[in-house]
Amino acid sequence: MTSTAASPAAAAPVRGPFRLAVAMLVVTTITILKGAMTTSTGSGLAYPDWPLSDGQVMPASSYTTIPGFLEHFHRLFASAAGLIALALAIWLQATGAGGRRVRICAWVGGSMVLLQGVVGGTGVLANLPAVTSVTHGTLAQLTLAMFAWIAYQLSDRYAATWPLTDVAPGAGRKLMLVALAVLVAQTVLGALARHTNNAHALWTHVGNSFVVFLIGAIATAFAVGRLKAAPGVAGLSRTIVTLQIVQIALGFVVLVIRNPDGKRPENVEDLGTAAVISVHVVIGALLTVLVATLAAHVFHATRRPGDDPAREFG
Ligand code: HEM
Ligand code: HEM
Repeated sequence: MTSTAASPAAAAPVRGPFRLAVAMLVVTTITILKGAMTTSTGSGLAYPDWPLSDGQVMPASSYTTIPGFLEHFHRLFASAAGLIALALAIWLQATGAGGRRVRICAWVGGSMVLLQGVVGGTGVLANLPAVTSVTHGTLAQLTLAMFAWIAYQLSDRYAATWPLTDVAPGAGRKLMLVALAVLVAQTVLGALARHTNNAHALWTHVGNSFVVFLIGAIATAFAVGRLKAAPGVAGLSRTIVTLQIVQIALGFVVLVIRNPDGKRPENVEDLGTAAVISVHVVIGALLTVLVATLAAHVFHATRRPGDDPAREFG
């Protein structure tokens, strides 16, 4: 990793790619909401084929039936996300803006979107086995977190965060990684509960929510207590803890209102219930994004002075 050698790439502005990365986050979040509504209403097999839907690019049933609308527009938003990811990677590649690491992240992120589409599509062709649906639900959140990391690396906050000299290098990193790991495990358990209707997975998900909360609280308290000189740590931490409380409360509502038989096509008759459950899925995704962003911020703020400069060029 080199320092700030003046090169044409060094001068490449990051404002444009940053905005595109934020647009990617918005479109992917809408895609996740659409996907969650597709699962919640049991509409995953509205079209038995892929990549086309009923052999068409824009079937009439996608705007005359609810399952068709949810599944087809989920596919369309996913395609838009794929195009934005590709544009972002090409932009960073062509201009060198932001440096080598963010460029690699953009290509990896783009590959994750592609993989996500392939897992979604092969799942449809295979009649939605749990293995593809659970992978699809979990990978969606990891993909969103990857683009949050990309946006963070292109942000003004990243460029303005200098190493904290009054804390040991690397302080708080392990705690943040454990907080992120238990959160991802929570998503896997939730997805298993959702797609297999397995009672063990469901109750482990409920129990693990308190582990998620406890470790999240410890990690954010540590970050606020020791790394408060890094701007943004306190605000991010507050939002994470608040959202965790909302999510646990909402989880109990979901537990009560969900169809005990799991995802079934008849769930489409109760769109309100499907929407509440889908909000639980989307808040899960936002929590993953926020904890991943805080982790990236803690890593960046606690690097050794002189290492890993604020923005690497070339
Ligand atoms: C950016 C790309 C994509 C993202 C982020 C994404 C995200 C999601 C999410 C979050 C769910 C809900 C999972 C759950 O609630 O457990 C879902 C469901 C689903 N997605 Fe995607 N998806 C993407 C692309 C696609 C594509 C290209 C297809 C093509 C067919 C697809 C097909 C499906 C299907 C069929 C479901 C319902 C699965 C089930 O109920 O078992 N997705 N998606
Ligand atoms: C911080 C805590 C929590 C997080 C981050 C979280 C996250 C999630 C996520 C992401 C999913 C869907 C996974 C997927 O399909 O992709 C899910 C499903 C679910 N969660 Fe949670 N959850 C939390 C706490 C809880 C609690 C406390 C309860 C119940 C008391 C709960 C009940 C459920 C249920 C019942 C489902 C499956 C819904 C269905 O069958 O459609 N969750 N959760």
